[in-house]
Amino acid sequence: MPDSPLQSADQADARLAGLLDSAMDAIITVDASQRIVLYNRTAEKIFGWPSDKALGQPLEMLMPQRFRASHAADVQRFSSTGTTSRRMGDGTVLYGLRADGQEFPVEASISQLDTPEGKLFTVILRDVSERVRAQEELSAFAAAAQTLREAEKTRVARELHDELAQSLTALKMDAIWVRDNLSLAPDAVAARLDDMLAILDTTVAATRRIAADLRPLLLDDLGLVPALEWLAQNFSQRSGVACELSVDEALDLPEPYATAVFRIVQESLVNVAKHAGATRARVRIVATASHLTLHVEDDGRGFEMSAPRKPQSLGLMGLRERTQLLKGNVHIDSQPGQGTRVQVQMPLELAGVSE
Ligand SMILES: Nc1ncnc2c1ncn2[C@@H]1O[C@H](COP(=O)(O)OP(=O)(O)O)[C@@H](O)[C@H]1O
Ligand SMILES: [Mg+2]
Repeated sequence: MPDSPLQSADQADARLAGLLDSAMDAIITVDASQRIVLYNRTAEKIFGWPSDKALGQPLEMLMPQRFRASHAADVQRFSSTGTTSRRMGDGTVLYGLRADGQEFPVEASISQLDTPEGKLFTVILRDVSERVRAQEELSAFAAAAQTLREAEKTRVARELHDELAQSLTALKMDAIWVRDNLSLAPDAVAARLDDMLAILDTTVAATRRIAADLRPLLLDDLGLVPALEWLAQNFSQRSGVACELSVDEALDLPEPYATAVFRIVQESLVNVAKHAGATRARVRIVATASHLTLHVEDDGRGFEMSAPRKPQSLGLMGLRERTQLLKGNVHIDSQPGQGTRVQVQMPLELAGVSE
């Protein structure tokens, strides 16, 4: 059946309306007096006004009070430039106003069209709340990670100062005393030398401990699996909590994965020892050619995941950061009385890494 000109115009209109309504962005057209003449379905969804409440109304109703005056001036300026379209807001964040009074960040562009009935302006706009929230979270995260690093450095500096510097000062004073008393009191000198040897022993132990905190040398010396075995044993000895380690003996990950795995297990076990009051803990590591999965579970008291964290609780934050840097994700599952399960997954990019 051949289309009459009228039918095809109707069809074109219908098609256009369908297109506008299926758009992911809000599309709003206003006339020269800034009254809304077109308002698609996404605009209804984003702003919360049904189209029969929006059509014919001033565009101002969709923006917070404080932007209204400058918006009118902007549109005037845009209208006089003759440019057909441009991004709105000049790089600043614009805000929309929902029917319920809530404000939200938007990204928008505006275009103008001269028609026989006068000028029309079309604004195409999207709600970027999610993106802005994700960005804010990311920068809060970066700031917290920075704090974490500073806190770590402060702690190491304090340990160096308190333990090593003090021992060395004591040893120096003893050495002076020995020099000055060598011929006068040989017995007392011998006793003093014994004291000095004892101080040297503890100083060497402290140096090892501080260095191990900075970098798990064990990893370099022994390899990942023995280092993990040491970690599990050391954890059990210190906390009295039984710890089962399940990992393929032959597992040998290149850096940066080995350090990440070691640190994640270390931090998780420190948490079990410090917070869980558990009787058993289990560490499980499974690696395939392309993925690594790591579980640390305990049967302790668990915790309320939604409870606000103390700002200095940076352990789990550090764990997240470490994992995200390697494009992985962390899943923590805990409830009061139900133990805690930390699960970390990350892709392994071993290509180019030689055995
Ligand atoms: N295995 C666990 N069992 C019980 N509570 C835990 C466990 N791991 C973490 N938590 C809770 O989560 C909080 C945050 O942990 P974390 O970020 O490591 O900070 P921190 O250990 O310095 O308190 C802890 O204070 C504790 O309340
Ligand atoms: Mg912790």
